[in-house]
Amino acid sequence: MTAIVIILAYLLGSIPSGIWIGKYFYHTDIRKLGSGNSGTTNTYRVLGKKAGTVVLIMDILKGSIATLLPLWFGLSIHPLLIGVIAAIGHTYPIFAGFKGGKAVATSAGIILAYNPPFFMIAIVFFLVYLYFSRMVSLSSILACLTAIVVSFSFHDWALTTVTVFLTIFITYRHRSNIERIKNGTESKVPFGYRAKE
Ligand code: G3P
Repeated sequence: MTAIVIILAYLLGSIPSGIWIGKYFYHTDIRKLGSGNSGTTNTYRVLGKKAGTVVLIMDILKGSIATLLPLWFGLSIHPLLIGVIAAIGHTYPIFAGFKGGKAVATSAGIILAYNPPFFMIAIVFFLVYLYFSRMVSLSSILACLTAIVVSFSFHDWALTTVTVFLTIFITYRHRSNIERIKNGTESKVPFGYRAKE
């Protein structure tokens, strides 16, 4: 049963929300516009608030549902481990040529299901960083780094370990964003372009 849940979590994470919403509702391939990423931020940027919000909710749900699977199936495997598999599915989706997003929203969904107070703190930091920087990418990375520090206060080694892993993973996935931040060309909210960067 554990193997089935692992596969389910990967398939769930693999659902390319942004790509499918863009393709089936807007006849647009979001990977050809904006940052070229298939995640929530680029959906907002390319398709607007409505599509962006739907994708945000779907991507968060993917992480949350995967994290809850061990509980629902009565398994002893750690829920965060199953959540991480969904985040990996989101990033390397079988349904989209293994080219997916940067795992921010799905990771948020993992911690929302596992530890809602920790999620709330991380979101507050993210919003503060976003208010000052106007860059979703930079705010995501900074919120992850802050979350590592905050995680110690919960005295939960699994939470801290997974937060460290996801921070490294998310930062790695933001390599092109980091280059643009250094060059001063990273896009800022409110988004005002659709052309490929
Ligand atoms: O959710 C990913 C975000 O941090 C950056 O997305 O499209 O600006 O590369 P994007």
